Amino acid sequence: MNITLIGMTGAGKTSMGQELAKRLDFRFIDVDELIEKKFNLILQEIVDLYGDQSFIEIEEQAVLDLDPMDRSVISPGGSVIYSAKAMEFLSQNSIVIFLDASFESIRKRIHNQSSRGIIGLKGRKLLNLFEERRPLYQKYAERTIVLRDDLDRDAVVKEILQKLPNEKKEGGNEMTKKQVGYADCIDETLKGFDEDRVLLVSQGKQGPPNVMTIGWGQVGIIWRKPIFTVLVRPSRYTYKLMEESGDFTVNIVPPSLKDVAQYCGTASGRDHDKFKEKGLTAVPSLKVIAPIIKECLLHFECRTVHKNDLNPSELAAPLIPALYPKGDFHRFYFGEILACQREG
Ligand SMILES: Cc1cc2nc3c(=O)[nH]c(=O)nc-3n(C[C@H](O)[C@H](O)[C@H](O)COP(=O)(O)O)c2cc1C
Repeated sequence: MNITLIGMTGAGKTSMGQELAKRLDFRFIDVDELIEKKFNLILQEIVDLYGDQSFIEIEEQAVLDLDPMDRSVISPGGSVIYSAKAMEFLSQNSIVIFLDASFESIRKRIHNQSSRGIIGLKGRKLLNLFEERRPLYQKYAERTIVLRDDLDRDAVVKEILQKLPNEKKEGGNEMTKKQVGYADCIDETLKGFDEDRVLLVSQGKQGPPNVMTIGWGQVGIIWRKPIFTVLVRPSRYTYKLMEESGDFTVNIVPPSLKDVAQYCGTASGRDHDKFKEKGLTAVPSLKVIAPIIKECLLHFECRTVHKNDLNPSELAAPLIPALYPKGDFHRFYFGEILACQREG
């Protein structure tokens, strides 16, 4: 597993990344440093020589060339978010964390703007660049750490560690769950759907996780990967969280807790903390950010690899009035199954 820190130049990606790597016993990869080594020039010289657009391509290639990494903390340059390809690669291979520093603190930390190899500054103010980039960092971040002035480096690293899935923490999973092959759990999963005992857990960028009952879904192979597909209507609070994050978990409730599934299929996370109200325990997953539910029997941890909207014009006409009287057509989320655990 890997972690990528993104954010403006001056946010502290290098110093925090190094400290994080030390604590986790991971490798630290500074992408700017790799580029400098390759060209045998300092960053500013490379930017001056090739120009902003070519530098973005150079940076993109440096990211795509990263070894199939494992146990690494990656610190790319602040301009990496201008390459959708690089960000897609990082999102697929790591947990992307945005170090969200205020403009004031960035301004104070960057004394030498013209020699830091900062892309997009020509003829523009640092504030313009900050305002342009922040939404892009937010778009790609799976997690955001707000760098408040009262937090020192150790406190930030501690906060990052708290936000990581279980596998990346020191310690590990203390539950009585064991990993199993997803293919051995398909019958039980279908039975769960049949009996209205399937819960979908999503976690947005901020706030607690949310749980909702799902009645439709399927497990199979697509793109040579094991895929769990779930269907979520845009009106659900879960939809908002699924759009903010890149993963989800599917959990099968024991028959004795069927009333919980009934509740989670009617109350909304907009107005209710369903975990709290129903005494459910969110415990860290092994591979994804969304937690699993301790009280459940079976858990699938899925990273979204594709999503698309139901196309009503291609749906058999009789299904529409019966299932979509309000036109609240589902979005399909295709999640690669990264881990499957069951009560041991
Ligand atoms: C048995 C059952 C199955 C359900 N299946 C789905 C489903 O597959 N997709 C969906 O969008 N809503 C489904 N729902 C409705 C949501 O669970 C329900 O609207 C829930 O309150 C949404 O919660 P949220 O707003 O916190 O996301 C189902 C409800 C029940 C009771």
